[in-house]
Amino acid sequence: MQINGFSKLSKEAKIDWLLQSYFNNDNAARKILLQYWHSDKALQELHDGFIENTVSNFYLPYAIAPNFLINGKIIAVPMAIEESSVVAAASKAAKFWLDKGGFKTEVTGTVKPGHIHFIYKGQTQDLIKFFRQNRDRILQAVDGLQTNMQKRSGGIRDINLIDKTAAMPDYYQIEFLFDTADAMGANFINSVLEEAADTLQELASEQLPDKLQILMSILSNYTPDCLVKASVSCPVTALKTEELSGEAYARKFVKAVKVAKIEPYRAVTHNKGIMNGIDAVVIATGNDFRAVEANAHAYAGKTGQYTSLSHAGIKDGIFHFWIEIPLAVGTIGGITAIHPLVRFSLQLLQNPSAKELMQIIASVGLAQNFAAVNSLITSGIQKGHMKMHLNNLLTFLKATPEERQKAIQYFADKKVSFKALKDLLGRD
Ligand code: MEV
Repeated sequence: MQINGFSKLSKEAKIDWLLQSYFNNDNAARKILLQYWHSDKALQELHDGFIENTVSNFYLPYAIAPNFLINGKIIAVPMAIEESSVVAAASKAAKFWLDKGGFKTEVTGTVKPGHIHFIYKGQTQDLIKFFRQNRDRILQAVDGLQTNMQKRSGGIRDINLIDKTAAMPDYYQIEFLFDTADAMGANFINSVLEEAADTLQELASEQLPDKLQILMSILSNYTPDCLVKASVSCPVTALKTEELSGEAYARKFVKAVKVAKIEPYRAVTHNKGIMNGIDAVVIATGNDFRAVEANAHAYAGKTGQYTSLSHAGIKDGIFHFWIEIPLAVGTIGGITAIHPLVRFSLQLLQNPSAKELMQIIASVGLAQNFAAVNSLITSGIQKGHMKMHLNNLLTFLKATPEERQKAIQYFADKKVSFKALKDLLGRD
C-alpha cells in the first residue's frame, strides 16, 4: 500500500492508516500498539521523538549481571537483550571469575578515523604538493569545531593524504584521525569532515590544475586503533569439573578456541556469542550496536581470514583467556543524557569514562564467550539454553501457574524440548 506524507500524519492517524491498510480495521491490532504506549505522556513523547514515524514502543528486557570483578572493582552490569540465556550465562561466568582475580583490562588506543573520499584526475605529485601546502589551512578551517572537544582533551590528532589509485583510478582520501574523549563522536567527526571537505574543494579549485571532486565525507566505523583488551587467568587446576581434570578441561577449551581461530564457520558463531554480551551492554548504555558489530567483525577479518576475537592458551600450568576488540563507544552525547534508562545504566556503572566503558564491555564479551565455550565443551549448549527458553515455550502455550510449576519440576533433570513439554501439558 503506497502513501504520501505518512510522516506528517499524527500518531493516531498513522495507526488508523495501518489498521485500514493491513489489518482490516481489526481493533485487536490497535490494542497491541497502544498497550505499549507509556502512561507518562512526557516520557512517551521523549521516546516518540528519538526516531521518525513512531507508532509504539518496542520493549527489550533490561537485566543486571552482577559480580563482575574488573580491575579490582566489582560492578553490576546492565544488559538489554531478548535472548533467554545470555544474562544468566554472563552472570555465571562473572561469578566463576570473581574468586580467581576477575577481569584485567587495558585500552591500547582511542584513535578513530574519518575520511574525505575524493577523485582527482591530475598528477599525484601536484596533489601531494597541494596537500603539503594547504594542510594547515584545512586544519585552521575546522579549528572552531574542535573547541568543545579540546576542552575534554579530544580533537583532531592528525591528517594525511592517502593515495588509493592502485585500488581505484584517481581515488584519494584525506584521512583524519580523532580522539573523541568520552563521546562516541560520530557527529563531531562528520561535522569536521564536511567542513574540511568544503575547504578542500575551495582551495583545490583555486590552486590545482585539474578538478577535484569530493565523493563523500564520513567517519569510519572501523577503528582498529580504538582497541581494548580484557583477560582472565587461573591455574588449570581451578578448572576441574565433575568429568574432566583441570588440565584436560583447559586443553579442550584451548582447542575449541583454536577451532574458532582457523575455521570461519565456527568463528562467526563464536564471535556471535561474544557479541551477545557486548551488544546487550552497548544497547543498555545507549550506544550504537550496529557500529559496534560492524567494527568487531571487520577486525575479526582484518588478516583476510575471518577469525576468533578471543584467544586462549596454557603456560606454566596457568590458563589464559583474553579478547582484543575495537570498541568505539561513548558515555556522553547521543541519547546518553536524555534516555532515562541509559542514564540509569551509566549511573549504575558509576558514570564511567568512554575508556572505562570499553573495558566493561570487553569483559562482558569475554565472560559471555567463556560461558558459551564452557557449555559447548561440557554439557552442550542446549541444556542451559532450553532451560531458559522453557519460560518462553510456557508463555507460548499459555501455561497456567500450576502447569509452569509442573514443567519446571519435570525438566529439572531432563532435556527440554517443545514436544516433551506439549506431551507433559497434554497439548496438541
Ligand atoms: C548463542 O546465541 C551463542 C552461541 O552459539 C555462541 C557459541 O557457539 O560460542 C552459544
